[in-house]
Amino acid sequence: MLLGVNIDHIATLRNARGGLEPNLIQAALVCEKAGADGITVHLREDRRHTRDNDVYELKKILKTRLNLEMALTDEMQKIALDVLPQNVCLVPEKREEVTTEGGLDVASRVEFVADFVKPLVEAGIVVSLFIDPDKNQVQAAAKTGAQFIELHTGRYSEAFGRENEELEFDNLKEAAQLAQRLGLKVNAGHGLTYENVHRMKSIPQLIELNIGHNIIAHAVFDGLEKAVKDMKDLIS
Ligand code: PXP
Repeated sequence: MLLGVNIDHIATLRNARGGLEPNLIQAALVCEKAGADGITVHLREDRRHTRDNDVYELKKILKTRLNLEMALTDEMQKIALDVLPQNVCLVPEKREEVTTEGGLDVASRVEFVADFVKPLVEAGIVVSLFIDPDKNQVQAAAKTGAQFIELHTGRYSEAFGRENEELEFDNLKEAAQLAQRLGLKVNAGHGLTYENVHRMKSIPQLIELNIGHNIIAHAVFDGLEKAVKDMKDLIS
């Protein structure tokens, strides 16, 4: 299974001081060196983390793939057609949300999504729709011309270790099977952690997992001890 690393949190930290550190490009290169198969960033309407320039720079520098998460707006479509990332993942976006809350509602607007996807696919971009593991959404996604879906694993992640874990896991499994039958390729992501990710390996249709928050959270503790020691050494 492939791993796409979402580095939006690095950009959030960088933006907190308005400078260039931690450097987003450097972070992407470290992820690639460590084996990431792709780098994901979400260019939000409010540019709260990743910015336009980051996307252009990443496209230039990455040796793997740039996966651009974006909403279905004219502005984002224009940027995607200019940057030409290898992958685009279409996501719903609400200004107030802390992170992408639910999957894209494709079923209620198949034609609109299909029209949005068309020029992207024609430009050679591999397009994925971020949807809940819901039969109607999978069936609708298959009618849009997108080659991939990314199954929203948020509900599984929240249910992990609780009584509805099996139900949420089965929803993912069944959605992945249906997608395969309909000719879609399948990725998954959101809320996956070092504790709950292992079950994804038993869904054979899954090609790539997109993980951000928990990897960056882990990285903080993996690096914090050394960071403090290095500073202490410098001033002792
Ligand atoms: N996939 C999509 C479409 C997302 O929007 C996000 C969050 O930005 C992720 C995956 C990664 O989720 P997390 O940061 O919880 O690992």
